[in-house]
Parts: sequence; C-alpha cells; structure tokens
Amino acid sequence: MLSDVIDLLADPVDGSPLHAGDVSEGGDWRTLVSDSGHSYDVARQGYVTLAGGAGLRYSGDDAEMISARETFLSGGHFAPFVEAVSANVADVLDDADVADDAHPAIVEIGAGTGYYLSHTLDSLPGSRGVGIDVSVPAAKRLAHCHPRVGAVVADAWSRLPLLDNSVDAVTVIFAPRNAAEFARILTERGQVVVLTADAGHLAELRAPLGIIDVEEGKVERMISQASGHLVPVGEPETVEFTMNLDQASIAAQIGMSPSARHIHPDVLAERIATLPATMEVTARAKITRLGRDPRLARS
Ligand SMILES: C[S@@+](CC[C@H](N)C(=O)[O-])C[C@H]1O[C@@H](n2cnc3c(N)ncnc32)[C@H](O)[C@@H]1O
Repeated sequence: MLSDVIDLLADPVDGSPLHAGDVSEGGDWRTLVSDSGHSYDVARQGYVTLAGGAGLRYSGDDAEMISARETFLSGGHFAPFVEAVSANVADVLDDADVADDAHPAIVEIGAGTGYYLSHTLDSLPGSRGVGIDVSVPAAKRLAHCHPRVGAVVADAWSRLPLLDNSVDAVTVIFAPRNAAEFARILTERGQVVVLTADAGHLAELRAPLGIIDVEEGKVERMISQASGHLVPVGEPETVEFTMNLDQASIAAQIGMSPSARHIHPDVLAERIATLPATMEVTARAKITRLGRDPRLARS
C-alpha cells in the first residue's frame, strides 16, 4: 500500500517529500500532498499518478498486453528469471548489510503486473516496494499485487517521484533504464538489478512467427550508456532455460511483447496455428548488477 512507502515518495515537480493529504479527515489516503503544496489524487483502485507539469508522454502497455502478461507469467514459465532477480536483490541487501528488519526499500521500474516485485518481497519478509509503470492498466494490477507494494504511475524517463538516497535496490526487468535517476535515488551502497533479454531468447519462435531477434551486445551498450552514473558490480550472469509452451502460452508470450503491436492479430493467430501443439522454446536473459559510480559526489 502507498502508506508502506510514503517515506520514499517525492513530488515529481520539485522533489519535496510527499505525505498523506487527508489523515486529519479520516486517513483514507485520497490524496498525497507535497511539502511545497502540490496535491496528487490517489485513484480509487489504489495507485497514484505522479507526473510533473508536462504530464505523461507515453501510455506504456495497454490493457490487452497487461492481461496477456498476467496469463503468461501465471503459467510459471519465467520462474527461473524471477528466482534469479530475487536472489540478486537478496545479495545486494546482504552486501550492503541491510537487515530485513530495516525494511529495505525496493523499487521496480516498468513493473507491469508486479509479478517480479511480489516474488522479491515475499522472499524478503521485512521489505517493501514501489512498483512504477507508465501504464494505467499495469498500475491497477500493481496496486493489488502485494500488501507491501505502493503503485505509482510515472514515466521512467522523467524525474522519478522518489527521494534522493532512499532506495536500497532498483529492479528493471525488460523495461526502460534511467541511469542518472537510479544513481540519484539509490542509497550509498544500493544497487540496480537489471534483467535484459539476450540474443537467442525465444529463438525457436523467431522465424515461424516473424519476430525480430534480440540484438547482440545489448548489455554492453546498457553498461556504456550508464557510465558516469552507474558502474557494473561483477560480471553479468546468463540465465538460460527451456520452456515447454503450448500454443495458448505462445500467443500470450507474443501478446505481452512489442511484437503484439507490429503483427496483425489474425496473422499472428494463423502463424501460431501452424506450430506444434507444444514445443520447447529457449528463454535467455542476462542479469547485471550496477552500483553508483564512486566518482559521483553524494548530495
Ligand atoms: C516488457 S514490460 C515488463 C514488465 C515487467 N517488468 C515484467 O517483466 O513482467 C515493460 C513495462 O514497462 C512499462 N514502460 C514502458 N515505458 C515506460 C516508461 N517510459 N516509464 C515507465 N514504465 C514504462 C510498460 O508499460 C510495461 O509494463
């Protein structure tokens, strides 16, 4: 709930701390108000939109994509990915000596349905999380994905609505990365855990469905773009496994990806119908940990 993470949230306009706006009127958290007097309505579904004056430039994944994501992930096909992300977050907290009873703060950027964030919070009983996504259908899911998640609609490419030095771990799973903002919100020993699709991911589906492959060197490019803000901690780790997918799961997998926007649904359905009833499909991604560049001055 937003009340679990209110001490982390900041006004997207000027970065000042946010508070529950209506505690004196019963404490039902209908608005969040900043020290500077800006007010943000909490939607009745439980999420809050924290966008600066220009509003949101993107709408993110639509309701159909979010629903396809929920269907696919609920099949457990990506379990090794979620295990790897949670294990890496636990390592980040261990390395920084953040105890569970210190209520570590974990923020997922582009959190989608909250599948990964919920799993991570379950594996760290004292932790709490902020799920940020620019998509309203995603935020509606995020608001109810876990009792210790606060759901926020915000754009990863703008100033993040989080206080400086407040977050112990940022997770980014197949979503946008804003290195400068991550460096600002991380605590001194906090780190970012990034899961990026790697060349060979879904390889068996590429030709039959006409979807493009992941380009080579993606992680190296991400590390170089983060330079000046974040530096890699250790070597990226490859997570690779085989999924046994039926046609419905393949349809859900493609429906939750950008390919859903590029291939007409009828064409996609025809192509999927030509596949075997079930088939083995490779899942392959790299997990990278990044910490603040030690040359950055701490504000
Ligand atoms: C590929 S999905 C990954 C979702 C989730 N991390 C998962 O793996 O289940 C990318 C997510 O990033 C969100 N997104 C895209 N652009 C964004 C932006 N500029 N700011 C915040 N979220 C964004 C989308 O709405 C979508 O939910």
